[in-house]
Amino acid sequence: MPSSRLLLRRLWLPAAGSAALGATLLAVFGTGTLPAIGQSQGTGPAIAQARTTIGVYSGRHYNTDKELYRQFEARTGIKVNVLEAKDDALLERLKSEGKNSPADVLVLVDAARLDAATDQGLFRPVRSAALQRDVPANLRDSQGRWYGLTRRVRAVVVNPRQVNPATIRTYADLAKPALKGKLCLRDRKSPYNQSLVASRMILNGDAATRTWIRGMVANVSQPFFTSDTPLARAVARGECGVGVVNSYYIARMLSGEAGAQDKQLAEQLKVVYLNPSHVNITGAGVTRHARNPQAAIKLIEFLASPTGGRGYAEANNEYPLRGFGDNPILKRFGTFRADGVSVEQIGSRSRAATRMMESNGWK
Ligand SMILES: [Fe+2]
Repeated sequence: MPSSRLLLRRLWLPAAGSAALGATLLAVFGTGTLPAIGQSQGTGPAIAQARTTIGVYSGRHYNTDKELYRQFEARTGIKVNVLEAKDDALLERLKSEGKNSPADVLVLVDAARLDAATDQGLFRPVRSAALQRDVPANLRDSQGRWYGLTRRVRAVVVNPRQVNPATIRTYADLAKPALKGKLCLRDRKSPYNQSLVASRMILNGDAATRTWIRGMVANVSQPFFTSDTPLARAVARGECGVGVVNSYYIARMLSGEAGAQDKQLAEQLKVVYLNPSHVNITGAGVTRHARNPQAAIKLIEFLASPTGGRGYAEANNEYPLRGFGDNPILKRFGTFRADGVSVEQIGSRSRAATRMMESNGWK
């Protein structure tokens, strides 16, 4: 009978020809050598369960996620090996590994990325009463290929010295001529903005969304940003009056985790949740070639449950699937009304959204 150490080694033996891909991967780690619960009891079934190991490929990269995997191991005796990397690298790796992939679960951030993995056939559809119950219908795939685990909000940050925060109530307000020269936007390569535009297309139709994009682009005087945090800093310094960012970035700055300077800058910002707000997710599904699909479902059920999900969300200053959680920094931002748009629909419109952004000046 192979020892668990041997199993682990076999699990993570790099696939032939994946050296180049391997170079882009950020980290490979097990979650430690926690003895499985039940192992010491010496009962047959407990030992059999303790030997189950699942692989998780995750596009998230937050240290605190590890703690939840450990909790899952302690509860179930199922070992979790996690590989964290950029989403593109994970998808390429899954495709090249095919049936030999050690991954049972794929975790991705944003509707556009979940849609890409779904299109490439990397998930298998699964059904679970717990997931049907715990994951709201608009935050999961209709065919059970992926399920939402946490929510994030595309918010507006305002520099009150430049713009009165009370004048920004909806995304439409960002296109008003009053903000000429004052709006900062991230570029269209960001899935976050692609998904935002896709949600506007679904809610308001193509013509209104085109007009909205043109109005916003006309308000931009700075070059388009390549990520949310530098954009937030620019607003805090008064280089712009208003910007669009995911609120967890501001929460991270406020926490001091990113340094005293970012904390001080974030204190200059007012976070405005628009009503309704565009909400995106981290989602997970069982991989097409999972060796332990049942154990994989158990992990996803745990992460999506109110207990697991809350921890997963708070790790990155995100929101749980329902309610607003207990994160004291997020509480400062107040609450929001989600627009309720189906994340599956957002994913399927993200390419059309990108084309619309491109043809209307969104760099
Ligand atoms: Fe992010």
